[in-house]
Amino acid sequence: MSAHIRPDLDAIPAYIAGRSLPGVVKLASNETTFPPLPSVAKAIAEAAEQANRYPDIHVSELRAAIAEFHDVAIEQVAVGCGSVALCQEIVQITCGQPTDEVLFAWRSFEAYPIVTQVAGARAVQVPLNSEYAHDLDALAAAVTPNTRVVFVCNPNNPTGTAHRRADIERFLDVVPDTVLVVLDEAYYEYLRFPADEHPNGVELGRGRPNVLVLRTFSKAYGLAGLRVGYGIGDPAVITALMKVRVPFSVNRIAQAAAIASLEARHELLERTDAVVAERDRMRDALVAAGYRVAASQANFLWLPLGERSAEYGAASAEAGVLVRPYGTDGVRVTAGDSHENDLYLRFATDPATVERFLN
Ligand SMILES: Cc1ncc(COP(=O)(O)O)c(C=O)c1O
Repeated sequence: MSAHIRPDLDAIPAYIAGRSLPGVVKLASNETTFPPLPSVAKAIAEAAEQANRYPDIHVSELRAAIAEFHDVAIEQVAVGCGSVALCQEIVQITCGQPTDEVLFAWRSFEAYPIVTQVAGARAVQVPLNSEYAHDLDALAAAVTPNTRVVFVCNPNNPTGTAHRRADIERFLDVVPDTVLVVLDEAYYEYLRFPADEHPNGVELGRGRPNVLVLRTFSKAYGLAGLRVGYGIGDPAVITALMKVRVPFSVNRIAQAAAIASLEARHELLERTDAVVAERDRMRDALVAAGYRVAASQANFLWLPLGERSAEYGAASAEAGVLVRPYGTDGVRVTAGDSHENDLYLRFATDPATVERFLN
């Protein structure tokens, strides 16, 4: 006889990561293609030499560096094994009853429904608007007395759409301050709105204790393989997050690499300009070929191909490029190196592909 497993887990979809195939270009995960900078690689190597020792359980040095970077107190900083771990911990600290609700737009980051159901809470999904962006009015209207958390993914994964500062501010103004609003800014560094419209959650959260901002070292900072992300919020929320986390889950190498990456941030963030230029070049080429492409402020593009998404993903893989189909909603394509993107565009804009998938 096998051991008893919670039967409700059967209804929870497993997290699906972008596929990798040897020799095939991967534009199916939102990583960067740049390797770590030499200074970061050196910090990683040095930390590896002490792998026999447990890491700093309080992640003090990294938290202090993040606090200084954002001009907040160290008590306002939590670090997790990727920001996805913080998503899980957020639901754990806010929900304890089956009636507790976690609200988010859909489609959005696929971890939100999973962490909600694992915690035994109720997921409430609000459809994206016709431009594949969060419908912030509908999201605010869906708040009930049972709502404990709202995840706002800005820019949104997988559609890339983002809201400007005034929109987010208006949303924060109407959500009751007993509801934790999580501004998930995993792709923040790829935003290119004018300065006065820039939605910096850390700034918007000042003076709002119910706002928690998530950032990650996985995307623009290029440390996806080491798993480190962080949250900035009210000290009471941060203290609660630190109670539920798995001890030592941010490992020694990740801590050292993240500190070195913050030190080298100017060089790392400069790289995002090249990614943004590629994203915009790809979008222009796809639109010119007849595709509908959501306006993107992230390092990826969303093609709402509906029922044909899976077939499109298979055809692209056959042409040597892995992209990421999402059910019958659409396909996400990450901006990679220019030669990788060229290979994808050759497939995508080929008259035979256009004829097959767009007509
Ligand atoms: C919106 C969003 N939030 C959080 C994450 C988690 O990133 P990580 O756990 O690598 O920090 C991702 C990763 O894909 C994401 O897309």
